[in-house]
Amino acid sequence: MAQKAIQRLLAEYRETRQMLAELGALLGAMPSETSSTAQRKEFMPITANKTVRELAVEVPNATRIFEKLGIDYCCGGHRSLDQACASANISLDKVVDALAQGSLAASQETSRDWTDAPLDELVDHIVAKHHAYVKAEIPRLQALLEKVVGVHGTNHPELATVQADFTSLANELAAHLMKEERILFPYVKQMSSSGGCGPSCFGTVQNPVRVMMMEHDAAGELLHAMREATADYSLPPDACFSYGTLFQALADFEADLHQHIHLENNILFPRVVAMEK
Ligand SMILES: [Fe+2]
Ligand SMILES: [Fe+2]
Repeated sequence: MAQKAIQRLLAEYRETRQMLAELGALLGAMPSETSSTAQRKEFMPITANKTVRELAVEVPNATRIFEKLGIDYCCGGHRSLDQACASANISLDKVVDALAQGSLAASQETSRDWTDAPLDELVDHIVAKHHAYVKAEIPRLQALLEKVVGVHGTNHPELATVQADFTSLANELAAHLMKEERILFPYVKQMSSSGGCGPSCFGTVQNPVRVMMMEHDAAGELLHAMREATADYSLPPDACFSYGTLFQALADFEADLHQHIHLENNILFPRVVAMEK
């Protein structure tokens, strides 16, 4: 009985929706397709043929959403959204919906759009937020790894792989941040304040940018290897609290490094290269 009533209500709902769609199409006030995804596609700059990098730059909160859905927006940013969805085995509509919702949520936040901000402010932001975070987290994670490998390493040999990869990542990042802070970023700030390029020890700015991007790729590969070794940071049944803290901290470190690389690869470096021309 109740089932029949529900079916009748559903039929009425479909009829009403169809009528509204037809009426909207007639008035030109509504798209004839009425799903929320289709409506958002009308108003948002989100299309399947845009590259992941373009969307990461243009759509607020996109990087966090890509992070959550397992779409690589750093080193794999050159792919179109539909290619990236296919390779992550995720529905395009689901991603478009998530991007539209994330963008809407961001419009109610006060997150800064760095695409047009002065370059010296962007550099200061990267150093104060992301470089400071990397420097603070590395010793904490090394200590946590030491502890968890000591207790669980025998039963979980993959932890030793994670520790070795993280040690390589920490060493590479220490040298990388130093190069940015001592060589590239001061040059960018000088360019930004003078509106042009002065003498440098590296010829064109494209040279250090290329090296930094190669190092970002190497960091991305180590992050990927750690994620693979831990089956996406899945905790085993015998994991203790420190094990859980370690995996959460590694996942957070990865998310922050992706944001950090995004700001440099997709916003800072293209603007710096364009300014030199
Ligand atoms: Fe950096
Ligand atoms: Fe960097």
